[in-house]
Amino acid sequence: MVQIVVVGSINMDLVTVASRFVAPGETLAGERFLTVAGGKGANQAVAAARLGARVSMIGAVGADLFGDQLYQGLQSEGIDVQHVRRLPDTATGTASISVAEGENCIVIVAGANAQVRPEDVRQAHDVLAGADAILVQMEIPLETVEATLRLGRQLGVPVILNPAPAQPLPLEWLAMAHFITPNQHELATLLSAPVDSDFRAVLEQQSLPLVMTRGGEGVWYRDGDQVRHQAAFSVDVVDTTGAGDTFNAALAVFLGEGLPTAVKKAAAAAALSISRLGAQSGMPTLGEVDALLERQP
Ligand code: RIB
Repeated sequence: MVQIVVVGSINMDLVTVASRFVAPGETLAGERFLTVAGGKGANQAVAAARLGARVSMIGAVGADLFGDQLYQGLQSEGIDVQHVRRLPDTATGTASISVAEGENCIVIVAGANAQVRPEDVRQAHDVLAGADAILVQMEIPLETVEATLRLGRQLGVPVILNPAPAQPLPLEWLAMAHFITPNQHELATLLSAPVDSDFRAVLEQQSLPLVMTRGGEGVWYRDGDQVRHQAAFSVDVVDTTGAGDTFNAALAVFLGEGLPTAVKKAAAAAALSISRLGAQSGMPTLGEVDALLERQP
């Protein structure tokens, strides 16, 4: 069984569905409200577990109702939570998400996620050393992202850096990642380049191990000396929240099958996730990914 470790955020997503996005100063009647387990780290952990991996999570929740629900939710997915701390006097991270016309807008409040420290990563040394791949995103302190990259490099375990939400990072950190998985906007921020730059030229010029997602246009990625393209799978879009997380998780789970296969399966898993509402509530099982690959080979 593939062993994945995720270092990252755990949020409760407060999701409002409406026919369109609200304008500043306006009040709009929505269609639906739901609370769904989320957070880029927890989402990637859950997606990897549903795809058949054994998963350990490193993160933090508050000692509050959301924290209890999220902690139990991770356990019920079979995820090892021995390195998820429950912090007194701290609120669990939240994401207020508006969904309209298949798009989303998200405001996150880090809460306990801001307390995920480099020591937490170092304390999980043995778990990380036994991993086939490590996933890390940027909803936790950047020094913890750095510590994860360094420890992964030291242990010889591939680290997939999902640079979301995007911030510029030192090239030295990027060079420690086995794969970096931005979308086009995140790529521009990461490299301090204009957002309308020719991303294919950026991929050609950069020796960084970039795997760039472009929603319905598919994925462009560097495979050795070549830049390759994987087309997107065709599905009806309901909610794109968590699609990137599903993609990253699947990339990690299927990495052992070679990069082109891993990217293809990751694109299939991400497509399934956008055909349903919610982040974790939309994540597919391995059987569902296989079935889509049969329908759209
Ligand atoms: O990537 C989607 C996630 O981003 C949501 O679940 C939300 O919690 C935000 O962190």
